[in-house]
Amino acid sequence: MALHQAAIALIVMVTALVVADAAAAAKPLPVTFVFGDSLTDVGNNNHLQYSLAKSNYPWYGVDYENGQPTGRFSNGRTIGDIVSAKLGIPSPPPYLSVSMNDDAILKGINYASGGAGILNETGFYFIEKLSFYDQIACFENTKAAITRKIGKKASEKLCNDALYFIGLGSNDYVNNYLQPFLADAQEYSHDDFLDLVISTLDGQLRRLYGLGARKMVFHGLGPLGCIPSQRVKSKSGRCMERVNQWVLQFNSRVQKLLLRLNSKLRAAQLTFADSYPIVLDLIENPKAYGFKISNTSCCNVDTSLGGLCLPNSKLCKNRKDYVFWDAFHPSDAANAVIADRLFSDSHIHQAPSPAHAPTPAHAHAPSPSPSPSH
Ligand SMILES: *[C@@H]1O[C@H](CO)[C@@H](O)[C@H](O)[C@H]1NC(C)=O
Ligand SMILES: *[C@@H]1O[C@H](CO)[C@@H](O)[C@H](O)[C@H]1NC(C)=O
Repeated sequence: MALHQAAIALIVMVTALVVADAAAAAKPLPVTFVFGDSLTDVGNNNHLQYSLAKSNYPWYGVDYENGQPTGRFSNGRTIGDIVSAKLGIPSPPPYLSVSMNDDAILKGINYASGGAGILNETGFYFIEKLSFYDQIACFENTKAAITRKIGKKASEKLCNDALYFIGLGSNDYVNNYLQPFLADAQEYSHDDFLDLVISTLDGQLRRLYGLGARKMVFHGLGPLGCIPSQRVKSKSGRCMERVNQWVLQFNSRVQKLLLRLNSKLRAAQLTFADSYPIVLDLIENPKAYGFKISNTSCCNVDTSLGGLCLPNSKLCKNRKDYVFWDAFHPSDAANAVIADRLFSDSHIHQAPSPAHAPTPAHAHAPSPSPSPSH
């Protein structure tokens, strides 16, 4: 469930817009639609009765408001939460918590679901989740409801003007291709697997475009080979270099796909946010960012049982010393550092310029996003 991806992209774009707006005039705040996995899930899976990809129990949320679990896969806030608060913008609510009669749907929705991937079969052992296909179907449903409220023309405009943050792919590795007992791992070479994932994503992004999405930000994967659940697979606790190489290939293929779509789809403005180098830096140099440990998680998880932080798990003494909260997800403190870095870096103040309309914009955002899954 790759959280960060979308979260970072969101911050970058929202920041850029807000800065641009402040300079220009007080325009209405952007409407945002978020598609993703556990890195951006803010509670959808709580509503899926049989889902095993859940985090609505202690110690999740121990550092969140009131110390309560919310369905976020973190001890506290997601990066999106932190930046939204700085900007005075509420995080969009989980799709499954909102009635389609509610005017809230006009302000943006979060469809992210822990365990989700680009491929339908990814994470199948979580029983229930919203795959990217499902999330797009939910958006279609939302759009129909918006149209019933404000009419076809206004609905089309709302969807054309909105921002779409998409962060998926981590689970296609962590909860699919990297599981040797699953069919995809047995049947495909990595090149063939990547072809399948990219052609599937191609169709999904075109479908979103067909539903009115124009400004889409795809957040690339972080160094998955360095998350605690992967490190334990090497005897010495090192990063799995082969996994990182695969992730780099995935990121590169996605960038090429986005460029192709921008040239083929007249009004598309797809951008790629590259978090890989910055997350790797945070993991390799934790002390430079105020952390002590980046090679294992604060919550003493059992990676043979999935790697989530279960209620009977033992926590570390100081949660702020750890980059990772569980075997997949960064800690609240790591998310805070990441969000602060995004804010202080001048790159984020560059809004993608509408002047370069058919823009193959690269979000050169300093987007540090750890890139876990679930
Ligand atoms: C994925 O699932 C959706 C329905 O949930 C289905 O329409 C689609 O054809 C599936 N795609 C593949 C490649 O099986
Ligand atoms: C993490 O790194 C420290 C020192 O660099 C080492 O002592 C420790 O064994 C490592 N932990 C794991 C789980 O690899």
